Amino acid sequence: MSLLARIQSKSHEHITDQMITEVPIEEVVVPKEETILSDNTISSAAEKDNTPELTNDYFELKNLIFKYIIKERNDEDIDEIVADLDSIISEILNDNEGLTNINDWNILKEEIKNDLTGYGPINPLLLDESVTEVMVNGPKHVYAERNGKLVLTNIKFRDNEHVMAVLEKIVAPLGRRIDESSPMVDARLMDGSRVNAIIPPLALNGPTITIRKFSKDPFTIRDLIGFGTLTEEMANFTKACVEAKLNIFVSGGTGSGKTTTLNVLSSFISNKDRIVTIEDAAELQLGQEHVVSLETRPPNIEGKGMISIRDLVRNSLRMRPDRIVIGEVRGGEALDMLQAMNTGHDGSLATGHSNSPRDMVARLETMVLMAGMELPVKAIREQIAGALDVIIQQSRLKDGTRRITNITEVQGLEGDIIVLQDIFTFKQFGLDENGKILGKLVPTGIRPKFYERMENEGIHLPTSIFTEKVEN
Ligand SMILES: Nc1ncnc2c1ncn2[C@@H]1O[C@H](COP(=O)(O)OP(=O)(O)O)[C@@H](O)[C@H]1O
Ligand SMILES: [Mg+2]
Repeated sequence: MSLLARIQSKSHEHITDQMITEVPIEEVVVPKEETILSDNTISSAAEKDNTPELTNDYFELKNLIFKYIIKERNDEDIDEIVADLDSIISEILNDNEGLTNINDWNILKEEIKNDLTGYGPINPLLLDESVTEVMVNGPKHVYAERNGKLVLTNIKFRDNEHVMAVLEKIVAPLGRRIDESSPMVDARLMDGSRVNAIIPPLALNGPTITIRKFSKDPFTIRDLIGFGTLTEEMANFTKACVEAKLNIFVSGGTGSGKTTTLNVLSSFISNKDRIVTIEDAAELQLGQEHVVSLETRPPNIEGKGMISIRDLVRNSLRMRPDRIVIGEVRGGEALDMLQAMNTGHDGSLATGHSNSPRDMVARLETMVLMAGMELPVKAIREQIAGALDVIIQQSRLKDGTRRITNITEVQGLEGDIIVLQDIFTFKQFGLDENGKILGKLVPTGIRPKFYERMENEGIHLPTSIFTEKVEN
C-alpha cells in the first residue's frame, strides 16, 4: 500500500478505535447544559480562541517535513514515522537554518501527527466531545460550535490544497470523489458524523466543509424534562402512547427539536419489536437490538439512481416491520405512510415541518396530493383521520428554549373536518425581565378517546395526569 493509501486507512482506523473505547449510551440523569443556536450571525457570534498565531516559517517547515516524509520514508509504517518525528525535524532544520521562527513546537508536531493519522488540522475538533459542529470556510477560517455557540478558531490549513487533501481522505474510502466535475459531496465519517463539502469554483472562499458531529450521548427523556421541554406527566403520557402502538407525528419548525424528540419517543419502543427507520441523513440512534436503518440516496452525477424516502417507505412494508420510524415526511411518501398506518402498521412514528397541529394536518393533505394520485379531499382526510392518533407539536420559543406546546389527539372525521383535541398545551403568562418566556405546560382536562384502547393494551395511566395540579 502506498503511503497515501495507508494514511487514508489510518484516519478511519483512528476514529473507529475511538468509537470502540467509548462506552455505549446510558441514561443520563443530570441534565446537560441547554444548547441553543445563537440567532446572531456567524461573525458577531464568533469569538477568538487563544491558540497562538502561526508564522510563515511554521508553514514552510511543515511543508518541507511532508515532502521529506513522502520522499524518504515512503515505505515505513506511519506509527514509526510519527515516533521518529523529532529526528526528522532536526534533520530538516540542519539543512534549512533560516527556519527559526516557530512559536510552538508541540503544535507543529501535533499537527503533523494529525495530518498523518487523522483528518489534519481539524482532527482535534473531531475528537473533542464538546464540539458539535465543525465548519471550514476555505483554508483560513475554521469555525466550531461548542455548547450551541459558534466560535472562530485559530486553526488554519496551509492552503486550498491542504483542505482538499483532507477532503480526499474523507471521501476516498467511501468510493466518492470530489473534483471540478463533481464539486459537491455528502459523506459520512466512520463514527457517523455527517460531512458536506463544496469546492471552487462553486464555493468562492475555497473548499468548504461542514461537519455535523455524531452525538455519542443523545438526549434522553430525563434531559428533555430537565430542559422544561415537557413535564413528567407528559413524558409518562407519550411513553404510554408509544407502548400502546398509537401512530404519532412530531410536528415543528426547523431546529425545534423534532428529531431529538423522535429519538426519545423511539426509545420507548419494545425491545421485541422489529424497527425499520427511514431517513434522509441517518440521525436517529436507537438502543434496541432489532433495528434496520435505511437512508436515502441522492442522484448521481448523471442525475440517476436516486432513492427517495417514498421508495424506502414502500420497500419497508415488505420488510415485515413492527414499527416504522420516518425521520421527516415532506412529500408524496405521506400517502404511503398513511396507508401503512391504516393497514396494520400501528405504532409508527414520524416528523414533519409545520407550525401547529392544525397546520400539520393541512400540510399532510398537500403532501398526499404530491404523491400524484388524484384523490378527493374527503378521501385524503379520511386517511389522515384514520391513521394518525397523536400530534406532538414542538417549538423553539423566542427565548431559545424548546417546548412541546401541544399534545393533540386526532379524534376522527366529522363531516369534512378532522377533529383535533388538545390533551396538553403550553399556557404562556408573559415575559420576565430577561425576556424569558413565563408559562407552563398543562393538561386541558380532557381525557383522550384512545384512553380505553390503552387500558385494553394493559397500559394503565392514572387519570389524574389529565387534570391540572393545584399548586399551593
Ligand atoms: N428539547 C430540547 N432542548 C434543548 N435543545 C434541544 C432540544 N431538542 C433538540 N435540541 C437541540 O436543538 C438542535 C436541533 O435539534 P433537532 O432535533 O435536530 O431539530 P429538528 O429535527 O427539529 O430540526 C440540536 O442541536 C439539539 O441538540
Ligand atoms: Mg430533524
